[in-house]
Amino acid sequence: MEGRKNVVLLGATGSVGASALQVLRRRRDCFRLLGISVHRDLERARDIAGEFGVQYLSVTGKKTPARPFPGIRRLPIEELVSLDSVDHVIVAIPGLTALRPLLSALGAGKKIALANKESVVVAGHLLRRALQTSKATLLPVDSEHSGIFQCLGSRTEVFFSKVPALKKIWLTASGGPFRDLTVEQLSRVTVADALRHPTWSMGAKISVDSATLANKGLEKIEAGWFYDIEPAEIDAVIHRESIVHGLVEFCDGTMLAQLSPSSMEFPIAHCLDFPKKSSVAAAGIDLLTLGALHFEAPDRVRFPCLALAEAAFEAGRSSPCDFEGANRVAVEAFLREDIAFMDIPKIIGEVLSTLVPVDLPDLTSVEERYVEVRRRTLEKISRTRR
Ligand SMILES: NC(=O)c1ccc[n+]([C@@H]2O[C@H](COP(=O)([O-])OP(=O)(O)OC[C@H]3O[C@@H](n4cnc5c(N)ncnc54)[C@H](OP(=O)(O)O)[C@@H]3O)[C@@H](O)[C@H]2O)c1
Repeated sequence: MEGRKNVVLLGATGSVGASALQVLRRRRDCFRLLGISVHRDLERARDIAGEFGVQYLSVTGKKTPARPFPGIRRLPIEELVSLDSVDHVIVAIPGLTALRPLLSALGAGKKIALANKESVVVAGHLLRRALQTSKATLLPVDSEHSGIFQCLGSRTEVFFSKVPALKKIWLTASGGPFRDLTVEQLSRVTVADALRHPTWSMGAKISVDSATLANKGLEKIEAGWFYDIEPAEIDAVIHRESIVHGLVEFCDGTMLAQLSPSSMEFPIAHCLDFPKKSSVAAAGIDLLTLGALHFEAPDRVRFPCLALAEAAFEAGRSSPCDFEGANRVAVEAFLREDIAFMDIPKIIGEVLSTLVPVDLPDLTSVEERYVEVRRRTLEKISRTRR
C-alpha cells in the first residue's frame, strides 16, 4: 500500500482517540498509524500498537512501563509530532498539555486535526502567530467548528482569518443531561448523572462541561479565534437532537447548516480527507425518522458557566485563560466529589473576580498564568469542600 499518509494520534486511548482509530481502521489503504501518545494506559497502548503496527510511542504520564514495547521506539511527544515522515497529527489530548506539542507540529508544517479546544481558548494568539510563519494546516475536530468549516466550503481554507460576508456563527448545544432541571434540582445532581450525556459519548471532563454549558462558552471563544470575529457575532443555541452541528449566517440573509449523526468520526474523517470529501461510505441521517429539528435559547441563569465564559471572551487578554484554568480545576474537584455541581460556577466566578486581566505575550507567560489560576482555584475549593 504505497503512498499512504503517516498519522500520529495524540491521546489514542481517549474518547476522541477511539473515534480516530475507528476512522483509521476503515482507511488503511490511505493512512498508516505511525505513532501514538498515551498518558498512563499502557495496556491499551499495547493493544493499539499491535493492531495498527505502530512504530513510535510517547508516554506522557508514566516513566517506565512494567513490560517493554518490543520493536517500538519511545519518543518525547514534541519529537513524535515533528518526525519528517509524519504527514497528519491528530491532537486529542486534554487541557494545556496539548499546547507545546501543537506548537511543535505547527512549526514542523504538519496537517493538524485539532480536537483540543483549550489550547485555542488559552493561547489563540500564539497559534495565530505560529500559523503565519508555518506551512501547517490547522483543521477543527470539534464537531461544531467542523460543521461551520464545512458550511464555509471554499470561502476559507485558512483558519485565523476573516471570512468575507460572514454575519454570524451559530454553535449548537444538546443542552446536556440537565437541560430540563430546576436550579434546586441542579444542586442535587451527582457525578454519575453528569456523565450520562443524552446524545454524545465523551471523556469525563468534557461531559461535565456539556452539563454546565461551559463547553459552549469555550467553543464560542474558539470560534472567535478561528474566524477572527467578535463575541457578538457568535451565538449558541440549544438543539436537543444534536444533528445540526454548526450554522453560518451571511450578510445577505442566507444561512447554511451542517448535519450529521452525533459521532466524532465524521469531523475526524473530514480533517483527514480535507480538502476532498471522502467517498468512504458511512451511515448518515434518515430525515423522515428524524421528523423535526428544534432550537431553543440557552438559559444562563440555570447554567451560569456559559455567561462566565462569555464575559471572559468579552474581557479578552488573559480572561479566557483564567476561565479555562478555573473551570478545569473546579470540574476535576466535582469529579472527585469534593464539591457540588452548582459549586462549579460559584468557584469560577469567585476566582475570576480576584484576577485582573493582563496580556500574555508568550508561552511562558501563558503557562505561568495558568499555574497561578489553578493555585487560586484549588485554594477556593479547599475552603468550599463538602
Ligand atoms: N470527547 C469528545 O467527544 C470531544 C469532542 C470535542 C473536543 N474534545 C476535546 O478533545 C480532547 C480530548 O477529549 P476526550 O474526551 O477524548 O478525553 P479523554 O477521553 O479523557 O482522553 C484523553 C486522552 O489524552 C490522554 N491524556 C490524559 N491526560 C493527559 C496529559 N496530562 N497529557 C497528555 N495526555 C493526556 C489520555 O491518556 P490515558 O488514557 O493514557 O490516560 C487519553 O488518551 C479535549 O481537549 C476535549 O475538550 C473532545
